[in-house]
Amino acid sequence: MNEQQQNPIDPELDPVAEIQRLRRELNAVILAHYYQVPEIQDLADFVGDSLALSQRAAEVEADVIVFAGVHFMAETAKILNPDKQVLLPDLAAGCSLADGCPPDEFAKFLARYPGHKVISYINCSAATKAQSDLICTSGNALKMVQSFPESQPLVFAPDQFLGAWVGRQLGRDLVLWNGSCEVHEDFSEDAIVQLRVEHPDAVVAAHPECPERVLQHADHVGSTTSILKYARETEAQKVIVATEAGILHQMQKENPDKELIPAPGMDETCNCNECPYMKLNTLEKLYLCMRDRTPEIVVDPAEAERALVPIRRMLELSS
Ligand code: 13P
Ligand code: SF4
Repeated sequence: MNEQQQNPIDPELDPVAEIQRLRRELNAVILAHYYQVPEIQDLADFVGDSLALSQRAAEVEADVIVFAGVHFMAETAKILNPDKQVLLPDLAAGCSLADGCPPDEFAKFLARYPGHKVISYINCSAATKAQSDLICTSGNALKMVQSFPESQPLVFAPDQFLGAWVGRQLGRDLVLWNGSCEVHEDFSEDAIVQLRVEHPDAVVAAHPECPERVLQHADHVGSTTSILKYARETEAQKVIVATEAGILHQMQKENPDKELIPAPGMDETCNCNECPYMKLNTLEKLYLCMRDRTPEIVVDPAEAERALVPIRRMLELSS
């Protein structure tokens, strides 16, 4: 029986007030991704995309980092802060991109491409990062690829759709690992076309983790932060949003008068535009992880040291 089962939440407790108390007591900072449930986004110290979260994690002064996101994000924060405690509300909050790139298979794959430099999307494990020359996020992928001369052959992993989009934008031929995000690969092209017909005055914003068949219908393609910026700046009053539905919370707050239309997944009977891993984190689990100071992220120190090199390089190139 684990600590949380032994000590369940007292139903009288207000988890928000308790989280505020524990944040002070632990000298903790709460970092959250835009895909988290609204109540977590609203009490976080900082909400951002993967790039901003890693930049913020690199500057944390608090003793404890509570990461309301998925495992690779918390792991990156731990690599950047080996001496701090990093907590994740639910250790099962993984990512299909990270899980779809097992480090030993990745090593065998890379052996087939001697002379190539390796750019890995931040959505991968520490062990995959440790085999990479440079990390990127969707917010800086174009810039990171451009940091290598055109003559330099490149492997891009693990997201084939982000890699293919970058390749198309820059006219570069990248060797791609064939991973994908299970949420973004599932958006329905037919449904987006149908929404455009029903709302001819709407614009479409999509995340580059979506396949080309979806991206070809987008007026704007970019990271969650850039999609939010686009929604603020577009003169259109309706925005069809092809990324994880958690972003709508922040977007609606910033654009109270605009109509935001979430693009649906291929199976209209499920909430397929919600990331099942991001949504494992709840307010209650956030409270429990701070109360019990577990689950804690642990990274092998030697692996963390190797993974830190391409992460630091990305941060330097992005500043
Ligand atoms: P960004 O917030 O960097 O756009 O990433 C999206 C995502 O899928 C994170 O898991
Ligand atoms: Fe991974 Fe996709 Fe979920 Fe982001 S939305 S954490 S890329 S599975």
